[in-house]
Amino acid sequence: MDLEHVILETDGHKVKMTINKPETLNALNTSLYNQIEQACNDIRRRLDEGEDIRCVIVTGAGEKSFVAGADISEMSTMNLAEAQRFGVECNRAFRNLETLPVPTVAALNGYTLGGGLELALACDLRIASKKARLAFPETGLGITPGSGGTQRLSRLAGPAVAMEMIFTGRMINGEEALNMGIVSDTAEPEELMNVVNAFCDKICQKAPIAIRAAKRAIRRGLECDTDTGLAFEIEAFSQCFTTEDQKEGMRGFLEKRKDIVYKNK
Ligand code: COA
Repeated sequence: MDLEHVILETDGHKVKMTINKPETLNALNTSLYNQIEQACNDIRRRLDEGEDIRCVIVTGAGEKSFVAGADISEMSTMNLAEAQRFGVECNRAFRNLETLPVPTVAALNGYTLGGGLELALACDLRIASKKARLAFPETGLGITPGSGGTQRLSRLAGPAVAMEMIFTGRMINGEEALNMGIVSDTAEPEELMNVVNAFCDKICQKAPIAIRAAKRAIRRGLECDTDTGLAFEIEAFSQCFTTEDQKEGMRGFLEKRKDIVYKNK
């Protein structure tokens, strides 16, 4: 697969997706949104073929920026139809990322603005460098967020947080994002990738089929009523009892073993 500005690297059970256009602070144009979608499709294909990928990390290239938003030069001349098409393509790419079967963790290494914050919000979890800056500057450009920001931030942190950030464009740092529940942890800039890798390694050591089932139940449950969500949970829970990993995990506990290894089977 030939991706000009998205790099996929594999490290054991982890795949790192790096948005790599540092000359424009990794700003996302249509081509980059499509490359993110292609990268997600590549990860899906590899999972379908049985590769034991257990976690995906998303980050930005360079010292300064995770992603500094959608590409303002591309958007500046769009008419209604072009903006609608752009919105559909951005959202398709991010929905593809959000619905990947395995956990996704965004490593926010710098500016995380507009479409960049929307990319981070399409991931399951986020860890921010202490120098990361998060904001929705869109209303200061005469537009609204267009790739999921109005929906995902309000679901994650509540409508008041979403409205405050979107109405004012206020830039927050990693610590504030942590207090608001937008990120799970912060790290010194030079430690960010170590912290993210250690966090993902913990996920990778758990039973992968159970993790995928839990992600599916949580994600689906967020989009439906409680009884339907609980039915998804029962399905997820009971399916685990068809796996070797459930037997190994419970037998290992009862035998007081410390050497439980999950085989993704
Ligand atoms: N779209 C297009 N180009 C962008 C961009 C974006 N969202 N964000 C940064 N760039 C480009 C700049 O135009 C500049 O290009 P140039 O060197 O050809 O002039 C390059 O990236 C470096 O950015 P620069 O503004 O010089 O860096 P800075 O350190 O002075 O400021 C930011 C950094 C992030 C504060 C500033 O780039 C910015 O405000 N970007 C736009 C953020 C935004 O509004 N995003 C939401 C879009 S909906």
